[in-house]
Amino acid sequence: MSATANKKAPLPDDIRAAKGGIPLVSLTAYTTPMAQMMDAQCDFVLVGDSVGMVLHGLPSTLGVTMEMMILHGKAVARGLSSAMMVIDMPFGSYEESSQQAFRNAARLMAETSAGAVKLEGGVHMADTIAFLVARGIPVMAHIGLTPQSVNTLGGYKVQGRDAAANAVLADAQAVSDAGAFAVVLEKIPQALADQITSTVAIPTIGIGASAGCDGQILVVDDMLGLFTAFKAKFVKRYAHLGDDGSAAIAAYAKEVRARAFPAPEHIFSDQTPTPAKGGK
Ligand code: KIV
Repeated sequence: MSATANKKAPLPDDIRAAKGGIPLVSLTAYTTPMAQMMDAQCDFVLVGDSVGMVLHGLPSTLGVTMEMMILHGKAVARGLSSAMMVIDMPFGSYEESSQQAFRNAARLMAETSAGAVKLEGGVHMADTIAFLVARGIPVMAHIGLTPQSVNTLGGYKVQGRDAAANAVLADAQAVSDAGAFAVVLEKIPQALADQITSTVAIPTIGIGASAGCDGQILVVDDMLGLFTAFKAKFVKRYAHLGDDGSAAIAAYAKEVRARAFPAPEHIFSDQTPTPAKGGK
């Protein structure tokens, strides 16, 4: 049972124990209705800093603030009753020192009732992860392509190809040794993802990695076809809600201009209707 507001949610230890079992299912969410839609299907839901790009139109995740994460975290928490909630630490909220990371992680958990935080980085963040875990903050790590470092990685490229594979493997081992309860592997070659999954003790959560990972995560607006500015190769669109929404809005605009909407069933007469039998 969880110590967060969501009493039925798995604990980080339950997620850790799922290593090697039925793959863990996860999506991002930023709002209450989306969280409600996925609650019963997901083991954990991530309030991702991708919120900046998919809901706020930012060019990257670098402009996402603590206040944005807390606002969306609170909204998601209201929509969850069985999935665990993990919340991203935004860029600039944890890199400076372990103390800064603790202060901001504690605030995110206290104000949103998230069950864990996620932060980006491997070997260089291991001390911070150990510091947080020792002080009661469960941490999900995120390695491979770490979007908050887009400017030093030279874009959103595949990470860990050829000679660079050893560095990603070292990152995975470091975050596992530091006490992270799971690690997101983003945009790395399949063989490397499989090697990490079979090497480290904690569940690997793939996004652009391998079906052999211990779980998968996608950005919900990507998989529903709501975010259409671009589509990464690793995204599968399970629906086309963006196209459906545009078509619906065009139909509405046409009907308003033709005075076909509102129709009689949408408007009120000037007489009070006789109450139907049964009191309604
Ligand atoms: O912010 C995000 O959406 C993420 C991904 C791993 C899904 O970090």
